[in-house]
Amino acid sequence: MYYQCPLCHHSLQLNNQVWRCDNNHQFDRAKEGYVNLMPVQHKKSKNPGDNQMMMQARRQFLDAGYYQPLRDVLFSLLDKSLTDHHNLQTLLDIGCGEGYYTGFLADNLVTNRKLNVYGLDIAKGAIRAAAKRYASVSFCVASSHRLPFDDRAIDGVLRIYAPCKAQELNRVIKDDGFIIAVTPAPQHLIQLKGLIYQTPQPHDDIEEQIEGFYCVQQQRLSYEMVLTGEPAVNLLQMTPFAWKATEQLISDLSAQSEFHCDTDFYIRLYKKK
Ligand SMILES: C[S@@+](CC[C@H](N)C(=O)[O-])C[C@H]1O[C@@H](n2cnc3c(N)ncnc32)[C@H](O)[C@@H]1O
Ligand SMILES: [Zn+2]
Repeated sequence: MYYQCPLCHHSLQLNNQVWRCDNNHQFDRAKEGYVNLMPVQHKKSKNPGDNQMMMQARRQFLDAGYYQPLRDVLFSLLDKSLTDHHNLQTLLDIGCGEGYYTGFLADNLVTNRKLNVYGLDIAKGAIRAAAKRYASVSFCVASSHRLPFDDRAIDGVLRIYAPCKAQELNRVIKDDGFIIAVTPAPQHLIQLKGLIYQTPQPHDDIEEQIEGFYCVQQQRLSYEMVLTGEPAVNLLQMTPFAWKATEQLISDLSAQSEFHCDTDFYIRLYKKK
């Protein structure tokens, strides 16, 4: 499968480290292997998406294994989808960040199967770090609001805490394709929220609707993490709560020897209507 040109929507072909369409729009393949398919005119800010500090904090936190139970559930779900869905050829991780889930899935699902795994994020720094580490994934910088893929090119989309546009998902996913979405369930990181707000509010307990798709399976995964100061600060810094945290709060958190914090995830499988 090839990428689609973000300017004229024709296919891009790779030749001598350059992705080029027949209208001669060109996108260099970076030395790390990814391609930046986000033309400046499509950008709303200079460096969209998560910044480097958030990305580094997320990488350190994820590398320490705190979300491995989530990764394992996603692996099992996809492994089953692959077994049921013999023709699965392309999987796309939207808003893949630094590639923790994408890389693991590509390395472990692909064995003996003809599956191409793609990772897409709007943050160039995150994609660069992802491509450097996970050679088995094809990474690109692009927005989930304009996916650089042909109509009905993708079998499965993975979306973990990332924005999406239903119209684009409808366009690129095949008729028998699926989406696996991870969203926060009510108690997710409630203790972390409690550091910022006097009365932390749980997340809404409503099933997210994606127009054109219906939910066929829902699973809830919840467990407690016991964090020392460093991972607790990383967790704070990979979330939007970081913007509200004072220096004092960060210093108090980093001095904690046991910060108990709940995870609470909804994992939903959607199929196309
Ligand atoms: C909460 S992070 C989750 C990252 C990754 N899925 C994970 O769970 O480790 C959300 C990601 O979405 C990306 N993002 C934000 N807006 C986006 C957009 N319009 N298109 C693609 N990615 C976007 C951010 O840069 C960030 O990496
Ligand atoms: Zn073009």
